[in-house]
Amino acid sequence: MNYPRILLLAVLLSLTAACTEQKPSTLGTDAGTERRIDELLSRMTLAEKIGQMNQVSAGGDISNYAEALRNGQVGSILNEVDPDRINAFQRICVEESRLGIPLLVGRDVIHGFHTVFPIPLGLAATFDPALVEEGARVAAVEATAQGIRWTFSPMLDIARDPRWGRIAEGSGEDTWLDARMGEAMVRGYQGTKPDTASMAACVKHFVGYGAAEGGRDYNSTYLTERQLRNVYLPPFEAAVKAGAMTLMTSFNDNDGVPSTGNAFILRQVLRDEWGFDGLVVTDWNSMGEMISHGFGADRKEVARLAANAGVDMDMMTFGFLSHLEELVRCGAVRESTIDAAVRNILRVKFLLGLFEHPYVDVEAGRAVQYAPAHLEAARRTVEESVILLKNDGVLPLDAGRVRTILVTGPMADAPYDQLGTWSFDGEKSHTVTPLQALRERFPGKVVHVPGLGFSREERSRFDDVVAAARRADVVLAFLGEEAILSGEAHCLADLNLIGSQSALLAALKSAGKPVVATVMAGRPLTIERDLPNCEALLYAFHPGTMGGPALANLIFGDVNPSGKTPVTFLRTVGQVPLYYSHNMTGRPYNGETLLADIDREAGQTSLGNTSYYLDYGAYPLFPFGFGLSYTTFAYSDLSLDSEVYPKDGKVSISFILSNTGDRDGTEVVQVYVRDIVGSVTRPVKELKHFERVSLKAGEQRRLQLSFPVSDLAFYGLDGVKKVEPGDFQLWVAGDSASGEPLSFKIQ
Ligand code: NOJ
Repeated sequence: MNYPRILLLAVLLSLTAACTEQKPSTLGTDAGTERRIDELLSRMTLAEKIGQMNQVSAGGDISNYAEALRNGQVGSILNEVDPDRINAFQRICVEESRLGIPLLVGRDVIHGFHTVFPIPLGLAATFDPALVEEGARVAAVEATAQGIRWTFSPMLDIARDPRWGRIAEGSGEDTWLDARMGEAMVRGYQGTKPDTASMAACVKHFVGYGAAEGGRDYNSTYLTERQLRNVYLPPFEAAVKAGAMTLMTSFNDNDGVPSTGNAFILRQVLRDEWGFDGLVVTDWNSMGEMISHGFGADRKEVARLAANAGVDMDMMTFGFLSHLEELVRCGAVRESTIDAAVRNILRVKFLLGLFEHPYVDVEAGRAVQYAPAHLEAARRTVEESVILLKNDGVLPLDAGRVRTILVTGPMADAPYDQLGTWSFDGEKSHTVTPLQALRERFPGKVVHVPGLGFSREERSRFDDVVAAARRADVVLAFLGEEAILSGEAHCLADLNLIGSQSALLAALKSAGKPVVATVMAGRPLTIERDLPNCEALLYAFHPGTMGGPALANLIFGDVNPSGKTPVTFLRTVGQVPLYYSHNMTGRPYNGETLLADIDREAGQTSLGNTSYYLDYGAYPLFPFGFGLSYTTFAYSDLSLDSEVYPKDGKVSISFILSNTGDRDGTEVVQVYVRDIVGSVTRPVKELKHFERVSLKAGEQRRLQLSFPVSDLAFYGLDGVKKVEPGDFQLWVAGDSASGEPLSFKIQ
C-alpha cells in the first residue's frame, strides 16, 4: 500500500467535500443569485456595507434623506406608503448612488393593507390556514402595488395573558395553531415563488416577548430553554422552514439577556440549528434599548453586542451607522460578520427582484386597492372568525319576523375602532359598520340609539335606549373595546367590559326584549357578568373593513358561525395565566369546595388541598377551541388504526362526525394528545391536528385523520428533541375540554 498517496487522496476528497458542501438555505437561493451577491459585495466599501445595515423611518421632506441615500448609507426605509415618494427614494438609490442598490421598503401591514381583515387573533379563530393565506395574499397584492415589499408580520408570540395588549396581534396561546397560522401568512405574503407582488414576511418578535411579566408590554421574561424550545420557538421554526425571508428581534430580555444581543437564539438556534439565511432586523431602537436594560453602557457597546449576536439590520438606533466602522477597525467586530449580514440583506433584495423592478406603477397600484374580490375575502374571513359563545335559541334571527331592530352600543357605528390595532392604512370611509350594513339590509326597520358614545364612556341612566328597546322586536348591542385599548403598549389590568357597557347591557335586558350582544375587542375580555344579560353573544375580535356585513350575515343566519376560541376565556383577570396545555400538578383540581360553599364549622380539612382558587375554582369561562354553531355536531365510533405505533409511524384516526341539527354547518375538528409519562412532566393536552369539516343538516360522514408520530417529539430531560416511548391519550373533539380519550402506545 502506498500510504502517502492514500493520505493525499483522502485529504483531496475531504477538501472537495468541504468545497461542494451546500450550506443549508431556508430561502433556497440558486448559485447564480449567490454569485451576484458575492460579486456586488466584493465591490462594496466597508461604509457601503454598513449603510445596507441601516434602516430609517421615512417622513418629512425627501431632501432630508437624499444625501444619505445617495451615499449608500440606508439599506431600508419604513413607514412610507406614498408610491410617488417610494419611487423617488428608489430613484436616488438606483440611479444616483455608486452601486445602485435598491431600497427595501418596509411597513407594518399586519392584518391587511387598505382592505383590513380581522386582527390576527381573529384570523386564528377561523382555524383556517388556507383562508388566512388568502388574506395575506390580498394584503401583499395591495401593499406591493404601492411599493411596499416587506411587512413586519406575522407576529408569532404565544400569548397566555390577555392583559398584554399585543395578544391582539398574534394567534393566541397555542403553539400548534400559531405555527400553522404563521406558515400560512408567510406563504400568503411571499407567494410560492417570489414575484413583484411578493412582500417579504418578517416573523417577530424573536423571542418570548408575549410572556412579559404581569402582561405589561416590554417587560422581562423568564422562560427556560425547555419552555422556549417546546412552546415558544416552534412557530418561528415552522415559519422559517416555510421560507420566511426576515425575522425581527424582540424588545424583552429573557433571563437577563435582551434578544437583540442574544447570540444563543440568533446564532445557535436560528442560524446553526435551523439554517436561516434571511435577514435579521432589530425592533425599533431595540439595540439602543439595551442601554436602558443595563446590558451595554452606550451606543457603541450595544452596536457591538448586536452585530456579534447576529443582527443584520438596525431599525432606528443608528448604532451600526455611527459605530460599526470603528468597531471593525479596532477588531471588536470582524469584517466577515459584516459581510455575512450584508449577504443576508442583499439575498432578500435579489429574491424580491428589486434590482430588476425597483419602481411601481402608481396608477395601476391605486386600481387594486379595495378590489371587490379583496372585500369579499375580508367578509368571508370575518364570517369564519366570529365565535358564538352563547345562544338561548334566539339566533339566527328570522328576517321576516322582525319589524323593528334596535341597534345600540358604542361599537355599532365605530368605523375606526372596528379596524383594530395596527391598521395604519385602513380607512374609516371604506369601513362598513354593523349599523350601516343593517340599515342597508333592512331599510326603515333599524332604530339607532347609541346608548354610549364610546367604549370608555361612563353613564348611569339609559332611559332613552331602554325606551327604544321596549318598542323594538330585538335589541342588537355592539359592545367591546376601542382599537386604542389593545395593541402595542396598550395593556389593561381590568378585563371587564370597560366604561358603563355592562350597565348598558343590564338596562337593555330590563326592557324584556331579546338581546343579542356582539363584542368587538382586541383580547378575550372577562364577560361572565354580562352573559346573563343577553340571550346570545357573538365574539368578534376587531373584524376590520367588512365587519358590518359579515356580522349581519351571521346574526340573520345567512352564514352559520364556526369560529373557535384561539385563547382561553377567563372568568376573572385573577386567573391569569390559565391556558389549556398546562402541565399536570401533583394535586390536580377535582371540583372541590368553593368559598361560597365552605361550611364555617368544617374548617380547612374539607377543602381538598388541590390546585385551585377558592373563589373561582380552576376552570375558565370558555376553554380553548370552543365555539357554538346554529347546528350541533356529534362524534361517534372513534378508533385508532393501531394500539401501538413505532416512532416513525403515523397515527390514523377514524370516526363519524354527524350534523345533528337542522342547519348546514362547519365544525372545527380538533385532535389533542397527552403523553402520560415523560422524562419531564408534559402538558395535560396539546393540539396536534385540526380540520374544518362542513356537513349538511342531518348529514353523517366517516372521517379519517392522521398525523406523524414525530409530531409528538419534544425536548425532554436530556435537551434533545425526540419522541419518548410510552402511553398516550388522544381526544378528537370540538374543543379542548370535550371528548373521551382513546389510548395508544409508542414503542
Ligand atoms: C415596534 C413594534 O414592536 C414592531 O412590532 C413593529 O414592527 C415596529 N415597531 C415597526 O413599526
